[in-house]
Amino acid sequence: MTAGRVAVNGVVVTELGVKVDPLVDTVTVDGRRVSVASAPVYLAFNKPAGVVTTMSDPQGRPTVAQFVPVAQNPGLFPVGRLDFDTTGLLLFTTDGEIAHRLLHPSRHVEKVYRVLCDGRASEASLQRLRDGVALDDGVTAPARVKTLRSSGATTYVEIAIREGRKRQVRRMFSKIGHPVLELHRVTFGPIAIEGIGRAAWRALTPAEVVALRRAVDMPDDGGVR
Ligand code: URA
Repeated sequence: MTAGRVAVNGVVVTELGVKVDPLVDTVTVDGRRVSVASAPVYLAFNKPAGVVTTMSDPQGRPTVAQFVPVAQNPGLFPVGRLDFDTTGLLLFTTDGEIAHRLLHPSRHVEKVYRVLCDGRASEASLQRLRDGVALDDGVTAPARVKTLRSSGATTYVEIAIREGRKRQVRRMFSKIGHPVLELHRVTFGPIAIEGIGRAAWRALTPAEVVALRRAVDMPDDGGVR
């Protein structure tokens, strides 16, 4: 280090004890990148609309990878996906095991969405969502649904589902005759989006990582930084 072989974000550092943030800083030794992260990384991202949930896009559309520190965290990937126009909470991790468990249908991890739908959705039609609606790929599991606001032209609804089928919420609302105009995810299991600005991310706290691991029956020793 004192020989000037180490650089942080391109700036050579020679004093010992320099602090680096493994989530954002790039560290090189003799110009070659080294990983300063050994423990798994867990992030919560507030996805904006108009962004694809892939790490690269052949069509050149904006991707989620452009918003989170992928270069500093090799192996970082999104846990599941949100549609191009869906906004809100998307988790990222380098931990394949927890991602697998969080997405596995048998785990029934709850996801909560706020939905602005077309038209005035009656209690009777929302009840259909609670009970389960028949989609092309089968009847949906019971959901928790409540009206947050309603005007003549639109209804603002909160829906909690435990499945994760493709475009599920959009298809459920289309089925009851109230197509989704805006879709925003506010929680994924024990993790909430509150406090994360649009297009911003933050690392999960150690307590959140423990809660997430518990939600999928993993032990608490996540090696959280
Ligand atoms: N359901 C949808 O229809 N779209 C999403 O992006 C997430 C859940």
